[in-house]
Amino acid sequence: MSSSYVKKAIVIGATSGIGWSLAQVLSRAGYRVGITGRRTAKLEELQREIGEDCFVQKMDVTRPQAEEQLNNLIGRMEQVDLIIYNAGVGYQNPELDVAKEIKTVATNVEGFTLLANLAMKYFKEQGGGHFVGISSIAAIRGNRKAPAYFASKSFISSYLAGLQQMVTHNKLPITVTDIKPGFVDTPMIDARNAYWVCTADQAAEQIVQAIRAKKNHAYITRRWRLVAWVLKCVPDFIFNRC
Ligand SMILES: NC(=O)c1ccc[n+]([C@@H]2O[C@H](COP(=O)([O-])OP(=O)(O)OC[C@H]3O[C@@H](n4cnc5c(N)ncnc54)[C@H](OP(=O)(O)O)[C@@H]3O)[C@@H](O)[C@H]2O)c1
Repeated sequence: MSSSYVKKAIVIGATSGIGWSLAQVLSRAGYRVGITGRRTAKLEELQREIGEDCFVQKMDVTRPQAEEQLNNLIGRMEQVDLIIYNAGVGYQNPELDVAKEIKTVATNVEGFTLLANLAMKYFKEQGGGHFVGISSIAAIRGNRKAPAYFASKSFISSYLAGLQQMVTHNKLPITVTDIKPGFVDTPMIDARNAYWVCTADQAAEQIVQAIRAKKNHAYITRRWRLVAWVLKCVPDFIFNRC
């Protein structure tokens, strides 16, 4: 590999929040970046900020065309080392509005599965690469206020664990990283009702550190590991009354 080799990364869901910051942090770290999302104006704004080394692909991960669109982006970038599935939606939904539950599953479960499969097959064929899923502390245990969101993140983390076992068992030169953020101040949450909130830039910096260290798992910020431990320990008869 020549010394002028430039690493290339795709952030799926880069038009806002953590994804927006991830694209910027990766670009500053020397990556050529590909960015996706549904909002064209936001994609163009981010491209203007990053500059020439930024490839744009409009994409709705809930549509079957997303597969072809990701392939198209990879083709235009010529070769990609890192793919991050960051796209996600989450709703407070204690009234169980089924439309919100289904939309969450379509984005966080079906979209993730479609594009994780594409990324893994691409890296296998290429002989290497790094796939990252942005899960959540929500993956640890269900929650009455947003059942589909918590279940969808549990799916993502469990799927990533399956991929990690697959690459290890088959000795594939692919790294798979499961990122579990706690609260991050983005349009997805109301930060006034949250604790231990970090900024999207802080989250992105820590995620990129975990990627560079080729970690299998990372909590963002790190102290959320403690919350995960508590969530796993609390017995059902207490947890279900909370
Ligand atoms: N904020 C938190 O506290 C927190 C905590 C734990 C985990 N997370 C996870 O972090 C990830 C990023 O969330 P965020 O907080 O940064 O929220 P955000 O600001 O709302 O960003 C969500 C991103 O996902 C994209 N997206 C949503 N639906 C999409 C679709 N159908 N097709 C393509 N892209 C889609 C959005 O792009 P378009 O709207 O342009 O399509 C946007 O770029 C999510 O997976 C979220 O679950 C967030």
